[in-house]
Amino acid sequence: MDQTALDNLLQPKTVAVVGASAQPGKIGYTVIENLLEGGYNGKIYPINPTATEILGLKVFPTIADVPGKVDLAVITVPVKFVAQVSKECGEKGIKALSVITSGFSEVGRKDLEDELVDIAHQYGMCVLGPNIVGTLSNSDKLNASFAPFLPFPGKATLITQSGALLIAMDAITYTRKVGFDKMISIGNMADVDFADLITWLDKDDNTSCICLYIEGFKDGRKFIEASRNTKKPIIALKAGVSAHGAAAAASHTGSLAGAVKVYGAAFQQAGVVQASDLNNLFDRTLALSLQPPLRKENLLVITNGGGVGVLATDAAERFGVPLHFAPQDVQDELKKHMPEFGSAKNPVDLTGMAGNDWYYKSVKFAYAHLWTDGLAVLYCETAMTNPVEIAQAIKKAIEETGITDKPVVVSMVGGTRCDEAMQWLVEHGIPAYTAPDKAMNGMAALREYNNIRQSINGTNEAKIPGSAKKAHEIIAKARGEGRTALTEIEAKKLFASYGLPVTEINLAKSEEEAVSLAHETGFPIVMKVVSPDIIHKSDAGGVKVNIKDEAGVRSTYQTILANCKAYNANADIRGVAVQEMAPLGTEVIIGSINDPTFGPTVMFGLGGIFVEVLKDVIFRVAPVTKGQAEQMINEIRSVAILAGARGEAPRDRAALADLVCSYAAMIYDLRDEVAETDANPVLVYEEGKGLKVVDARIILKKK
Ligand code: COA
Repeated sequence: MDQTALDNLLQPKTVAVVGASAQPGKIGYTVIENLLEGGYNGKIYPINPTATEILGLKVFPTIADVPGKVDLAVITVPVKFVAQVSKECGEKGIKALSVITSGFSEVGRKDLEDELVDIAHQYGMCVLGPNIVGTLSNSDKLNASFAPFLPFPGKATLITQSGALLIAMDAITYTRKVGFDKMISIGNMADVDFADLITWLDKDDNTSCICLYIEGFKDGRKFIEASRNTKKPIIALKAGVSAHGAAAAASHTGSLAGAVKVYGAAFQQAGVVQASDLNNLFDRTLALSLQPPLRKENLLVITNGGGVGVLATDAAERFGVPLHFAPQDVQDELKKHMPEFGSAKNPVDLTGMAGNDWYYKSVKFAYAHLWTDGLAVLYCETAMTNPVEIAQAIKKAIEETGITDKPVVVSMVGGTRCDEAMQWLVEHGIPAYTAPDKAMNGMAALREYNNIRQSINGTNEAKIPGSAKKAHEIIAKARGEGRTALTEIEAKKLFASYGLPVTEINLAKSEEEAVSLAHETGFPIVMKVVSPDIIHKSDAGGVKVNIKDEAGVRSTYQTILANCKAYNANADIRGVAVQEMAPLGTEVIIGSINDPTFGPTVMFGLGGIFVEVLKDVIFRVAPVTKGQAEQMINEIRSVAILAGARGEAPRDRAALADLVCSYAAMIYDLRDEVAETDANPVLVYEEGKGLKVVDARIILKKK
């Protein structure tokens, strides 16, 4: 995307409204009215074939009639005229179109959308939308939309896929006092997408935090790339997390991959903080847009009320924010600014007697102290204090330290006087909230932002461990036989070609062959049916373990054949695999899907009930670095089992991280061929003793 085209879109000096109307109530009238009421300083050109004047502005019959250059054309003509007027805009040399008109891909007319983008690209124009509300910018006093007014001013910028939500959020900015500079409705994203705008906003001096409402991406990897490269905090609310991944899955991993998990992984890798709902989005945006990240762990809470202090403590725990006690010398100094019965622990309770001076002195001392990494100041309205004065005391104390790289959040619990005080604080750059848990949520976002950025910085790119040649031969053979499911033997050979440690396995086509392979492999052995028609082998009675001698091999061979025939009489049974029996270890699962939005995506979790019942699995978009693989392992809830719970020796997590990393590289390398895979179980041994992939499943993409 040509970023200069986006300058025209988002900071135009001149705006034409093609489809402007003199008739109040029409969108083409409202956009002109909004441009005027917003106080836009640039030139406004209404375009309409018949009208001569709209709201005092001279009207031009076509865009070609406009004298001089036009930066942005806002299109409000019905869909059937959009292609024609877009061409005229191109001829005029306009570089940006904001297409409000609906009636494109959202109603099945992708053809019209493609035509629009083709025309735009012929003339080097970018297209925002179609099917949008428009764009709003406080710094340019530009309301080129049919949202009623510019948002409460501030430094966040919203990009939203829902136009209706833009209008609702615009209004909420005033009731919540969360300030935005820009609001951008992105609509069908026929051309300009989230990634393009994020890249542009990274350089926008008026945007300090990028706030996203997302329904879905067209190109998930482009989003990850753009977000990773951004120096500003990004916060995302993803809607529609339930339906995705509901499609029938042939692998275990496929059935576990829902949008929550895959989008969550992508946000993590993109360095994007998440919001769980709309309220949460506002609370987090407020903190992220006004304050620096919480870089270390020492957050101090100062309050005048025990109750709000406890609520803040509860919320801190819920959001995973630790509250440590300050060192004794810090506590001793704080004790000087409270009565005998106050507390200098954390929360520091100044008590209900606290007035402006105690707040001022304790905040100034605590904020300036080297121990403190961040501050949450809480206040309950009292009859003896004036909330606005308390707010001013807090702000003065912070300002006088001269420190700007530590975050501070405030919560004032009370009535309209508190509301007034909090608005004052927000206007002076300090996020203020009506409840202590909201303030903690804001602080938690600042901490998450710091941690998430740390986790994506400074990691080396993963290397592809093996060669794809052998893998492609195995895949070609299966495709040649019209199959998309590889047999276990094929899957393991493919894994082995990428250097993954698999158990030795060979196909016996007769009982005699099985006996001879068993002797070669060495007892005890495992025997498994080999059939492209039987994917869940255990369910079919097609797996037997711990076979200790020749007699066992012979009887097992016959039992497996009988069980599998009974399970599926028409199954193409190719024989029985004779496999080395790996020693017992901790069972884990590694798998992959080829996600429609993000492409190859790797999964890790503990096996058994942890995956079956608890669905305790973590996804990442492949490939992953060693550091990301380690993070995946540490993120599962049941990680204690690998660390050596209940006296067990710790498992070889280093080997496991290597395997996850190699696995992800492998599925990325084979992304054009492979749909889903499972290595399940993988047995992990004690530290230093490695692991073994005991079962393997690969499903190819349908071609
Ligand atoms: N050049 C300039 N103006 C033109 C034109 C052209 N080639 N062709 C038509 N117009 C004018 C019309 O004459 C009309 O002005 P008028 O009131 O003076 O007659 C104006 O453009 C609008 O056309 P009209 O036919 O009255 O349409 P409308 O205003 O009822 O609806 C849209 C137009 C774009 C608003 C409507 O088609 C639409 O898409 N609405 C949905 C918008 C939306 O919800 N977006 C997504 C939000 S999430």
